[in-house]
Amino acid sequence: MNARANEIVAPADGLAPVFAQYALPVTHGEGVWLHTADGRRVLDLYGGHAVAALGYAHAGWTAALQRQAQQLNFQSNAVPLAVRARAAQRLLSFSRLNFSSVFFVNSGAEANENALKMAFTVTGRSQVIALEHSFHGRTAGAGALTWGAAGKWYGFPRAPFDVTFIARRELAALTQITEQTAAVIVEPVQGVGGAFDLGAEYLAALAARCKAVGAVLIFDEVQCGMGRTGEPFAANLYGVQPDMLTTAKALGNGYPCAALLMHPRIAQAVRLDALGTTFGGGPLACAAIEATIAAIEDQQLLAQVRRVGAYIRQSCMVGPITGYQGAGFLAGLRTAQPARQVQAQLLERNILTGTSADPQVLRLLPPFILNESHVDLLRDALLAIGS
Ligand SMILES: Cc1ncc(COP(=O)(O)O)c(C=O)c1O
Repeated sequence: MNARANEIVAPADGLAPVFAQYALPVTHGEGVWLHTADGRRVLDLYGGHAVAALGYAHAGWTAALQRQAQQLNFQSNAVPLAVRARAAQRLLSFSRLNFSSVFFVNSGAEANENALKMAFTVTGRSQVIALEHSFHGRTAGAGALTWGAAGKWYGFPRAPFDVTFIARRELAALTQITEQTAAVIVEPVQGVGGAFDLGAEYLAALAARCKAVGAVLIFDEVQCGMGRTGEPFAANLYGVQPDMLTTAKALGNGYPCAALLMHPRIAQAVRLDALGTTFGGGPLACAAIEATIAAIEDQQLLAQVRRVGAYIRQSCMVGPITGYQGAGFLAGLRTAQPARQVQAQLLERNILTGTSADPQVLRLLPPFILNESHVDLLRDALLAIGS
């Protein structure tokens, strides 16, 4: 394979040229494999930024969308829909957390914006705390919560509210959460920040501090949620109940959708017309959510993520890999050389991986159907690359 095929190229196809793209002309997918127009079969350990939880061409998910498309393609929240109610109930019970209400939206950023709106409403305060190295989205509010965005791509003249960034996993920094704080938003396992897990002790202390000063705790599980850590949510993994939780990406296995889950204390403050959306909670999105959760449960994929996630950690500390961070299938492999180099070398061997804001971390976000034999292919490729 020609090394040039792995280079990031600027597309000339009429699309706004905002994305660097790999020369990987994907035509279709099957299981954990992507097939390309130039005849390659590529092992996908990145899942389209953590989205393809069930992999590709999943029979149950595909049939559910087909059925729903035939039955009813769209009606908004102005009418009750059985499929929407089923998706909400299924998500609430899947979470195994104390949430009583779901608000369906379209993207992770939108879910975070609505969570903030509820936090401002409930507390009557206006200051927000986020963590260094966080990523919460690209809209005005979510971008304002994203570490480093202001200096790089924020693009709005000013942030819509005050945000203070505190050092991640540092207990001493929690004193910056005060009676003026409306909300604290955290990714329990940071994604873009480098598959960096905040850990049970830190998250418990964070929750206790929020409770003491009356600040609302929001878990952004857009990337780490929906089974990716081997538990329904990282909140389950670390045993911490947030006031609100946002999730997206794996939620619909590729059908665009997101959700905001609310503890009863927050849910009781929701008023008619306080939140809104046209597409959120549409029937196709809800059919996708229902089918995704059904597959995770029926195929016992949480157990698979725990088992195969542990196998990655145990077998892939070879070649250029010097360490591990993260949880389950949000795995960060520390690299001796720049992670981008390792990524390019793996892609030459037909294995697609991701990088992160940390230049020494190779990020894996594979479909939950990944098994040990696939991990062996990664291990062998890492061994072939060498240290
Ligand atoms: C943790 C986290 N929050 C929010 C977002 C934004 O989600 P979206 O791109 O769906 O708006 C992302 C996207 O990568 C994310 O990783």
